[in-house]
Amino acid sequence: MADILAQKPLDGKKIVLGVTGGIAAYKAVEVVSRLRKAGAEVHVIMTRAAQDFVTELTFREISGQAVTTSMWEKVTQHKVEHIALANLADLMLVVPATANFLAKAAAGLADDMLTTTLLATQAPVFLAPAMNTNMYENPVTQKNLRELAARGFHLIEPASGLLACGVTGKGRLPEPVDIVAQVISFCAKERDLLGRKILVTAGGTREPLDPVRYLGNRSTGRMGYAIAQAAAARGAKVVLVSGPSALPVPSGVRRVSVETAREMREAVLREFDDADAVIKAAAVADYRPKNVAANKIKKSEGEFTLVLERNPDILWELGQKKRQQVLVGFAAETTKLEEYARGKLAKKNLDFIVANDVSRADAGFAVDTNCAKLFMRDGTVHDCPLTSKAELAGIILDHVRECLP
Ligand code: PMT
Repeated sequence: MADILAQKPLDGKKIVLGVTGGIAAYKAVEVVSRLRKAGAEVHVIMTRAAQDFVTELTFREISGQAVTTSMWEKVTQHKVEHIALANLADLMLVVPATANFLAKAAAGLADDMLTTTLLATQAPVFLAPAMNTNMYENPVTQKNLRELAARGFHLIEPASGLLACGVTGKGRLPEPVDIVAQVISFCAKERDLLGRKILVTAGGTREPLDPVRYLGNRSTGRMGYAIAQAAAARGAKVVLVSGPSALPVPSGVRRVSVETAREMREAVLREFDDADAVIKAAAVADYRPKNVAANKIKKSEGEFTLVLERNPDILWELGQKKRQQVLVGFAAETTKLEEYARGKLAKKNLDFIVANDVSRADAGFAVDTNCAKLFMRDGTVHDCPLTSKAELAGIILDHVRECLP
């Protein structure tokens, strides 16, 4: 790491570092020191509670900059106090991020300089949660974290170990060296998809049966939205063709909303010709009801027979049309993962396929985590153990980048 810092990988970057009131606040001092060694200009904002743990003087000396501790103090360095730091930041980082701060951030509160800056900035934001295990695992905190992740914040996973409160579990702030490594790696690949158009599909399709019913599946869109969000953050122009989903549109992404497989096909074909890569994370219905009733079907005694007909296989069609595009499919399998995935890879003429075992409770549909095997056209296989969908999205995009001409 020392060698990497000497290469000044963050040269010219302006980083705003928020410190909130947790016992791990002292580790933020080393984070500032390392960021500076890596070439960054660091501006620290401390919450009121953070000042009970570490003094402003420490951060002033280590950052070489004035430290912001209040909304109302006389600010000498910044032109418009409330938003100056928000505009100046190339990247924002909060170390440690307490449960209280996460709750305020998730709710969009702006009652101090840190939350105000967070709300006003358009820079990428990294949050490093650190707290007691029970507080971390509390469903409210987990809900706040999910919401922040869905809004595009980068969460630095807390470590497990002995916490200051004497409990052993998850919630410890990762070592400063690891936090800074994540920032450096993000900045290194930050814009590696600049100028590329990436078409992503997400969510499940719905095939109407009558005006009130449809055939659908359990896809929430989380996997596809994570890919779209990560691609936009890396500079790509992203079009997200999405089935119905409750997720917000990630910033910088153009969403095209569709409902049925045939609507998805039309939207995808419209965007395909000038795309550099297509990543099909959507769960598309293979069949649709042959006849859609004009009025609500009334129940009657006895059985009800539904006749289904085939939907177009969008990905197969793209495989036939493909010229320069990198084509990535997903395979959602419950058995014979490798055999079926390799079959789809060949049949649909893909560059690679992301095979996920959807029989697992912690992978596939409607969860924030996934694990997958990436089967490449050249026969190589990359194993991605259980991780967040955001992390897997990054890995998928790394491989897309390698496949791009
Ligand atoms: O949305 P989440 O809740 O986060 O869940 C994520 C996910 C489980 C939906 C995702 O990880 C996933 O596996 N997506 C693909 C689901 C699927 O339809 O797999 P498949 O094996 O049936 O299809 C293979 C590929 O062909 C897929 O890329 C699919 O988009 C595509 N396909 C399938 C059928 C069809 N008619 N047209 C297609 O283009």
